[in-house]
Amino acid sequence: MKEIQLHDKIFEPYIDAEKIDAAIEHLAKDLEKYAENETLVFVSVLKGSFMFTSDLAKKYKKPVVFEFFRLKSYEGTNSTGEVNVLMDIDEELVKGKKIIVLEDIVDTGNTLEKIYEVLESKQPASIKIATLFFKPKAYNKSLPIDFVGMEIPNDFIVGFGLDYDELGRNLPEIYKLKEVKKRRTVDIVLFGPPGAGKGTQANILKDKLGLQYIATGDLFRHHIKNKTPLGQKAQQYIDNGELVPDEITIGMIKELLKDPDSKGFIFDGFPRTVEQAQALDEIMAEKGLIIDALLSLNVPEERLVKRLLNRGKTSGRSDDNEETIKKRLQQYHEKTTPVKDYYANQGKLYEINGVGDIDEIHNRLMDIINNLKLNENKPK
Ligand code: IMP
Ligand code: MG
Repeated sequence: MKEIQLHDKIFEPYIDAEKIDAAIEHLAKDLEKYAENETLVFVSVLKGSFMFTSDLAKKYKKPVVFEFFRLKSYEGTNSTGEVNVLMDIDEELVKGKKIIVLEDIVDTGNTLEKIYEVLESKQPASIKIATLFFKPKAYNKSLPIDFVGMEIPNDFIVGFGLDYDELGRNLPEIYKLKEVKKRRTVDIVLFGPPGAGKGTQANILKDKLGLQYIATGDLFRHHIKNKTPLGQKAQQYIDNGELVPDEITIGMIKELLKDPDSKGFIFDGFPRTVEQAQALDEIMAEKGLIIDALLSLNVPEERLVKRLLNRGKTSGRSDDNEETIKKRLQQYHEKTTPVKDYYANQGKLYEINGVGDIDEIHNRLMDIINNLKLNENKPK
């Protein structure tokens, strides 16, 4: 079973044929027990119940009469609230009989209410409901549902008689509507050792793609400058020459992502640890978002040293000397390899040659980003 498309929507596999069969088997047994020595009248509610009715019929071993009733309530994937009788049953066929209404699915219960109303007026001896699927969270009526094949969450499903605008009824198993995340450009993490050119590339990508650029260095400085609660906590660690703990950094990111109205994020300098990467996935997931890729800029070590030494000549940064540079690079490799592995395991790691002029490297990054977008439009 794989994803399928019906009209404009994508559906994913949900309940296999074996489980459906077991549920119907169970219903057949329960109904046989209920019938005792009486001949029941199965009133099948069309169109959705045709497949359920047919399978139940084959499993039900006692004498039974079939009647059909046709209603319509759904438009697309939403219940309209209004239920119409499209095909009625003659009164003499059900008068004084023990009726079992066969429904494919009970959702809000609007349809069920209408069925009760119409059938009761025909004076049967009794009315019981047997439904293959039941959505207890959507049900807002108090009528009893006597026989339930399977309870399901509040998802829109198709297959086994159930349709999305008339398609999907012939599927022998159940599929559910796939939630599509809001269209964003991309959400990426830019990765690379000090001197790899992350800042330069991130700024170009930010402008070109309309992304929000999130650099943890800037984030720290912003919080500290504005003396926010998180900034004050971070300051204490920095003053003591200690690393700022993950929970503070994650807290800052969380606050920033509260209201994601940009077209996408480009992270620089975050996540730095696997814990941060996991936290980022969780924060993003809460917003229905996902990191699309980790773009890792690779530059050979001797080149990095050269670049940083050159920068040191003009930057006046005390940490841009050969000895500390080597140490920083070593630290980078030790600490960040697990983060790379984390994304590699999700199939999201892209290694990019970071040697070349700015435009060349930018084009390499864009090639990957454009490919990501293409893949996302295809059903998986
Ligand atoms: P209700 O009136 O809201 O209980 O809806 C009952 C009718 O709506 C069913 O007989 C189906 O025809 C249709 N329906 C409810 N939920 C679904 C679903 O998930 N997929 C397809 N049709 C559904
Ligand atoms: Mg129906």
